[in-house]
This record gives sequence, structure tokens and C-alpha cells, in this order.
Amino acid sequence: AMVVRRRTKGSGKWGRAEALVRELEEQCGTPIAKLRQVADAMEVEMHAGLASQAPTRLQMLITFVHNLPSGDEKGLYYALDLGGTNFRTLRVHLGGKEKGVVKLESEEVSIPPQLMTGSSQELFDFIAAQLAKFVSSEPEELHPPPGRQRELGFTFSFPVKQTSIASGNLIKWTKGFNIEDVVGQDVVGELTKALQRIGLDMRVAALVNDTVGTVARARFSDQDVIAGVILGTGTNAAYVESAHAIPKWQGLLPKSGEMVINMEWGNFSSSHLPLTEYDQALDADSLNPGEQIFEKIISGMYLGDIVRRVLLKMAEEADFFGDTVPPKLRIPFILRTPDMSKMHHDTTPDLKEVGKKLKDILEINNTSLKMRKIVVEVCEIVAARGARLSAAGVFGILKKIGRDKVKAGEKQKSVVALDGGLFEHYTKFRSSLESTIKVLLGDEAAETVSIEHFNDGSGIGAALLAASNSHYLGLQES
Ligand code: GLC
Repeated sequence: AMVVRRRTKGSGKWGRAEALVRELEEQCGTPIAKLRQVADAMEVEMHAGLASQAPTRLQMLITFVHNLPSGDEKGLYYALDLGGTNFRTLRVHLGGKEKGVVKLESEEVSIPPQLMTGSSQELFDFIAAQLAKFVSSEPEELHPPPGRQRELGFTFSFPVKQTSIASGNLIKWTKGFNIEDVVGQDVVGELTKALQRIGLDMRVAALVNDTVGTVARARFSDQDVIAGVILGTGTNAAYVESAHAIPKWQGLLPKSGEMVINMEWGNFSSSHLPLTEYDQALDADSLNPGEQIFEKIISGMYLGDIVRRVLLKMAEEADFFGDTVPPKLRIPFILRTPDMSKMHHDTTPDLKEVGKKLKDILEINNTSLKMRKIVVEVCEIVAARGARLSAAGVFGILKKIGRDKVKAGEKQKSVVALDGGLFEHYTKFRSSLESTIKVLLGDEAAETVSIEHFNDGSGIGAALLAASNSHYLGLQES
């Protein structure tokens, strides 16, 4: 029989490309009803993780942080922040209630990629060397008095089973890290050994996740803070739980009656999550297949690569960029989320920025305006899904602790502290997240909940927790 090819919708280059985008849009769809299901599933998993010692989807890790900063913390403390693409050292001068954070100095280096998959000693020696260099720049008037050790808060943004406020074993790596000989080890022990090797006399006073640091930082300024969320290279949340609501906690009930829980929500997954073939392929190709599914559809490490995978399919199946598939489009992670964000925010009438990115990064020349518009649309679909799912996560936490509704007469305020490059720099992501939380809460409750950005939250928070767990408490200068 003769095959008659007709140009109808769905056939031909544009039709096929259009169909792929519509399919993506449908599969990434996050109507409010679905977000409510996600939030409910999150709440269910939270209960499970708080109850069980055995591994659960949400690990709900006990942080040993039960006294959050009061605002009175004072003195000079150091912090290390390891966990994203950059490694930071901080020197924080805390001035108590009146003065807050008096002075913050910090240094940032990007982590050489080979260190992220090398050996434990290489990684920790690198960290110790950076820290030693940073400490040597300490102004003389800030030197500790003779006999007093410098103290450090260590922000280590990976899942850790803590054994005290200043010790804990790495459960697994996430994001781009994979250094086998650290798994199961006490990371404070590893750091301390490296500090000794280099001859730097410092005491690690607190080991904290970045989400926990963010909660601490925010509490220093605002006592209504109940949770901290990171949207950066990875994503995660920590919140203040009532100690009675943690069946798996076997220790004494803390005086405050509270405990900060590191949820490790990046590992959340549920049949309600809108997943696509692109997500499945990204997961299969990743360092940690089957894990961190929520993180892989939300966070900065992955969003750009999802967009790349969609564009690749459009190139392969619809000749979207011409007769041949642009070779660069096959390179994993070549399209970074900051570049995706740049394209998504392009306000020039002819989408010049988009054209420039496609050319500079992917070596795709001479794109038409129509093509560039479709690329922006793909960015929008992928970013909106991530932002709206993070809103569902925040809503799930608020539900779990009963802050999603206004109780008769009460107008208890709840502040959720946010930090991370994705939240900070990806404006459309951020506004979608904020507006979605409002919709989920409804007008009345939305008035009692606020989302606040705390810059440098995780690092400053670690310094604060070092202060409140200092060996020299009570001896502090006023
Ligand atoms: C990953 C880590 C988690 C961290 C988050 C944000 O999800 O496992 O510990 O808080 O990234 O950096």
C-alpha cells in the first residue's frame, strides 16, 4: 500500500517538536490537587522516619541540636561549609542581641572535581589546608588568648548519622560526591586528623547539616523560625520537632522539649511525583541511581541537565536544531542551571540571550526566534515543576507541625528560612515557589507564614552552634 504523508499537526519538524513539549508539559504537570497529595505523602513519610531506626525514605535524622540560638551568642568562631560546588571558610564575629553578626569574613574556592571522587585523605587535607591559610589571615587583635583553642562549626551537607553534636558518621554521599572510604566514617574524626597533619590547633565544636545551620542562623534573628530549606546544588529541609514526637529517639528528653530534625527530603519519592522519561534517564546515568529522586527533579545540580535531555530528544526526533544533532547536546551537565536561568529570564524581544547561550554553550548557531521561544518554554516547564514541588514539601512540613492552619484566635507566626543558590538567583523559581505556598495555605493561613532568605545561613549557623556548644561557655568576653 502506498503511504501518504500528510502535513498535519504532530507531523513535520515543528509539529513533532511541539508535540514533545506538550507531552513534557503534561507529564510535569503539578496541579494543586497533586501538590496536596505530595504534601500528604511527605507527611506520612515524616511520621515513618521519626518512628523507625531502620532506613526509611525520609531519614529524619536527629541532629542533637535542641538549643537553638537565643541571639545572645558572642565571640569569634570559625566555620567550614562543604557540600555544594564551592567550599567556604568563614570567620564570624558574633555580638549578641544588640549587635548581631558584627563581622563576617569568608573565602570561597570551587572544589576541584577530582577531589569529589578521590580519597578521604585528599579531600580532608585540601579542606584543612584552605582553613589553615584562612586562619593565618586572622587579624592580631582577634587572636585567642593564650591557652584558648579556636573553635569551629563544620557544615557538612550530606546525610550523617550523628552520635553527638560534634560527631557523626556519613551515611552516603549525594550530589556529585562519591568518595567510598569516607562512607561510615566519623567526618569530624577525619577532619580532626587532617587538622593535626597540617598542625592547625582547632576544635570542632559542632557538626551541622546546611539546613540545620540555616535554622540556627535564622533563629538568631527571629524566634518564629520553624524550618530551614536549602535550594542549591541539592535540596533538603530541617525543622524544629517536638521531642515527644520522635519515637526513635532513645536519649533523655531535652529540656527545651525540642529537637531539630534533618529530613534529607532530597531522598523523598512517591508515586505522586510527576516523573518523565528524562528524569528516569538522568537517574539511571547518575552516581546514585534510585536515590535522591525529589532532589533530582528540583535542585540546581540537575535542572539544567533535564532541559538538555529534552532538547536532545527534540533534536533527535524532530530535527529541531537542523538535520544533524548538535554534538555538544550529548555532553552530560554541559547546560548548567545558571545558564538555563539566564535563558528563562531573557527579556529581550528577540531572545538574544537564549540565542547566545545556545551558541556559546551548545555551539548551535543561527537559531530562529521560534526555536528560542520553545527553548524558553522547556525551561519554564522544568523550573515550575521543581518550584511547585518544593512548595509542596514546605507545606508538608507545616502540616506535620500544625502550622498550616490558623487556630481559633491565635495568630502564631511561622517563618521558614531559605537559602541556596537556586533560591537566591533563579528569580522565576523563587516567585513560583512563594506563590504556590500561598495558594496551598489559603489566604488566612498565608498571612501567618513567611518565607525569608538568610544569606550565608548555613555557614553563620554553624558558627552560632559552635558558640552555643563552646568549651568556654561562661568565659566569653562581653
Ligand atoms: C543533599 C544532601 C543534604 C543537603 C542538601 C542541600 O540533599 O544530602 O544533606 O542538605 O543536599 O545541600
